[in-house]
Amino acid sequence: MKGAVLVAAGLASLAAAQQTAYGQCGGQGWTGPTVCVSGYTCTFSNDVYSQCLPGAAAATTKTSSTKTTKTTTSKTTTSKTTKSSTTKPTTTKTSTTKTSSKTTTTQPPPTTLTTVTTTTSPSAPPPSGSFTLEGYARNNPSGTVTGGTGGSTTTVSSYAAFTSAVKGNNAKVVYVSGIITLTSKVKIGSNTSLLGLGSNSGVTGKGLSLSSVENIIIRNMKISEVKGDDLITLSESTRVWIDHNELFSGGLTNGPDYYDGQIDITHASDYITVSWNYFHDHWKSSLVGNSDSNRAEDLGHLHITYHHNYWRNMGTRGPAGRFGHQHVYNNLYEDYRYQAIHSRSDNQVLVEGNVFRGDTREALSTYGLVIPEDSPNTCTCGDQELNGYANLGAANDWGTASVNITRVGSFTAAEYSYNLTPLASVEAVVKAGAGVGKVAV
Ligand SMILES: *[C@@H]1O[C@H](CO)[C@@H](O)[C@H](O)[C@H]1NC(C)=O
Ligand SMILES: *[C@@H]1O[C@H](CO)[C@@H](O)[C@H](O)[C@H]1NC(C)=O
Repeated sequence: MKGAVLVAAGLASLAAAQQTAYGQCGGQGWTGPTVCVSGYTCTFSNDVYSQCLPGAAAATTKTSSTKTTKTTTSKTTTSKTTKSSTTKPTTTKTSTTKTSSKTTTTQPPPTTLTTVTTTTSPSAPPPSGSFTLEGYARNNPSGTVTGGTGGSTTTVSSYAAFTSAVKGNNAKVVYVSGIITLTSKVKIGSNTSLLGLGSNSGVTGKGLSLSSVENIIIRNMKISEVKGDDLITLSESTRVWIDHNELFSGGLTNGPDYYDGQIDITHASDYITVSWNYFHDHWKSSLVGNSDSNRAEDLGHLHITYHHNYWRNMGTRGPAGRFGHQHVYNNLYEDYRYQAIHSRSDNQVLVEGNVFRGDTREALSTYGLVIPEDSPNTCTCGDQELNGYANLGAANDWGTASVNITRVGSFTAAEYSYNLTPLASVEAVVKAGAGVGKVAV
């Protein structure tokens, strides 16, 4: 199948201003230059973002899918160039009309992993240039995450006060002052905002559990040093925003299982945004779907947005997904030793605008092998699972890391509006903006 090349009208009249390399050159609401400097072509990434990329067409491993065709709003200034097709087998295309006024052409397989079909609330794009919520925790069928907004407020600085403040499902804002040592894992109730004060507040020793709860914000918290367990575990939980935290441990010297995950998201949890966190010195970051035998429960759930996170000196799982659906954009990976993004067991990832630096072996893989460095269970050679799927959106900078896409999926565009940082700015923007002490809570 041949990729369509669409050149919008109106370029001649806008010839004056030329966008610099890697700059934005189109997208919904864009009023800046729509042509690029010599040697760069304005390349369609998604509905809200086109970018000046080198040469005539950007990606090499881009899918052959036809990009979203908009039924509404101004597209006239965007120069659209879908990427050249690869040699995919011809497949029957199904057209799905979404309630968010998009007509999207998707391609099988798999038909069972559908995207969110009702992303009506809220419909306006998130404001740009601020640290506001975007992604699945904002746009989902059950409503934007609000946490404890409007509820009671408490400030806590002891284990006892902390555990009692976060209990229950009434709306509540819990401010944490200083680092609290937890003596057991603490369950967070629904409708809670858990906010660290200043730049040195949070919990250590034991982790946080979000189990069968909804509508939670965890922000500006330092969370560290949980031996043999996760820093944050989500199970059967929906609508969670984990933003501007710092998650870390003592490094990689004790192997993958001395600590467990940083943010593990399991048992059909859904509509989660993990943004602007600083993850460092820890082996396993974020597991999505905890077992390849949990297909029936997890399939069609686990919609998670990971954006503008800074991962440094890590081992695996940035993230590693099974059966779900993750949009991974504008993250910075530095010394991500073994494997960063892993999509397996029919999981789908949309990967765009990420930067990989340093000693990073593999940036992205959909090969089903759970590598030996990731604590396999059945064989020292690794555990074999079904492959996953990956789609590439706006160009990534893989650095020296490898990419192994064994199956291209149907997740060709996010179902919501979001602010994509130009690739050339990602490293600086993420280093400056991720972690604690960057937002006023
Ligand atoms: C969270 O708060 C909303 C609004 O008050 C309420 O409808 C919902 O039931 C609460 N969630 C839980 C799990 O109690
Ligand atoms: C990439 O995936 C293929 C399966 O399609 C596998 O044979 C190969 O070993 C993988 N490469 C790496 C480096 O894992």
